[in-house]
Amino acid sequence: MSRSRKLEWVAHTHRLSGETLKLLEDHLHPEPRLQEVYDEISENTVSNFLLPLGLAPNFMINDRLYTLPMVIEESSVVAAASHAAKFWARHGGFHARVAGMLKTGQVHFRWEGDPESLQSAFQNVRPAMLASLEPYTRNMERRGGGIREMEIRSAGPALPGIFQLFVTFHTADAMGANFINSVLEQMAQSLPSLLQANGARGDVTVIMAILSNYTPECLVRCHVEAPVGIFEGIAREPTGMTFARNFKTAVEIALHDPYRAVTHNKGIFNGMDAVVMATGNDYRAVEACGHAYASRSGSYRSLSAVELDGEHFRFELEVPLAVGSVGGLTSSHPLAAASLELLGNPSAEELMQIIASAGLANNFSAVRSLITTGIQRGHMRMHLGNILRQLNASADETALVREHFRDQTISHAAVSEFLNQQRNNQP
Ligand code: MEV
Repeated sequence: MSRSRKLEWVAHTHRLSGETLKLLEDHLHPEPRLQEVYDEISENTVSNFLLPLGLAPNFMINDRLYTLPMVIEESSVVAAASHAAKFWARHGGFHARVAGMLKTGQVHFRWEGDPESLQSAFQNVRPAMLASLEPYTRNMERRGGGIREMEIRSAGPALPGIFQLFVTFHTADAMGANFINSVLEQMAQSLPSLLQANGARGDVTVIMAILSNYTPECLVRCHVEAPVGIFEGIAREPTGMTFARNFKTAVEIALHDPYRAVTHNKGIFNGMDAVVMATGNDYRAVEACGHAYASRSGSYRSLSAVELDGEHFRFELEVPLAVGSVGGLTSSHPLAAASLELLGNPSAEELMQIIASAGLANNFSAVRSLITTGIQRGHMRMHLGNILRQLNASADETALVREHFRDQTISHAAVSEFLNQQRNNQP
């Protein structure tokens, strides 16, 4: 259906008001060429759903200064990131390094036959399989990526007769999901005949071929460090050491208590997701993987950790991040491309370091607030604009409210009550 047919259909079927229809229309891009781009990003599109693109300046990462693009619906995340970035820029900045760039895919299959002959036949299958994949891997290899390893693994005693071809990839600067899935589907097609031709005694039934979003070997580590003296005078803490000790305890609570760990890690993903979104990367993949990694010990734990060695404070985040800086939405979404340009068109590795730094920055700001002023003070201050909009405050009322609440605790109820008093006192 054309857009107007879709709108007619939805208006009729769901009794949308004229006002709502106008709102959908009003959010279309005035430039038809750009609207076409947005329309084609997903399916059945009728309008655009806007989110703010904010800037978090002063991110010193590996001695280079960045301004981070952040797309997020929650107020105070960009402010928190900027605040932490400015603080740490004065104390050496973020130090980030990538520990690995490997991704994984699997072809799951049923094997009815002799498991030993499966393994030995596969050793002979390998070269022929790699050769047959050449048309799919040629371009990726030219860019420094490709297939790194492949092996047959048993699914274990819980799934007798189920095996998988476990394949490791390097996808250069791309996130690589399409590349990996294309290669895996090709492998799935050729696997049965190649095994048979190489003397495997049994039958293969392919169940499915798909990348794994669990990428523990596509990993980045990022830390900040300094003598505890830098925290002297921070908020109301009596000494830098008290702040550092309380900070460490707060992070340790998130290491041992899953209820706290989920919220703690959510604070990390506030920063990471915002940059992931701004650069057109897949935040669901990043989230799913990060949470699985946080559970790798068997219980869900904090992704960040603190070391306090005498007077030396070190705060580190370790997180898997499968992101790309080329291909997919990174180049087709006009604003994702603009975000990458703002970051100096980084490699995927550099982008991983930037995203991890955003996560650590937001984590630092959140824990800092939690152990000092509490989270609501800053959060509600940032949220005040939203409250004022919800209450339809005029420009004069907005100025009055902002002045009144400069030193007062902000809540929706308190602002509403104050506004009502003002409105009732009007002549
Ligand atoms: C709010 O979006 C995130 C926090 O709850 C994170 C945290 O508690 O560490 C403030």
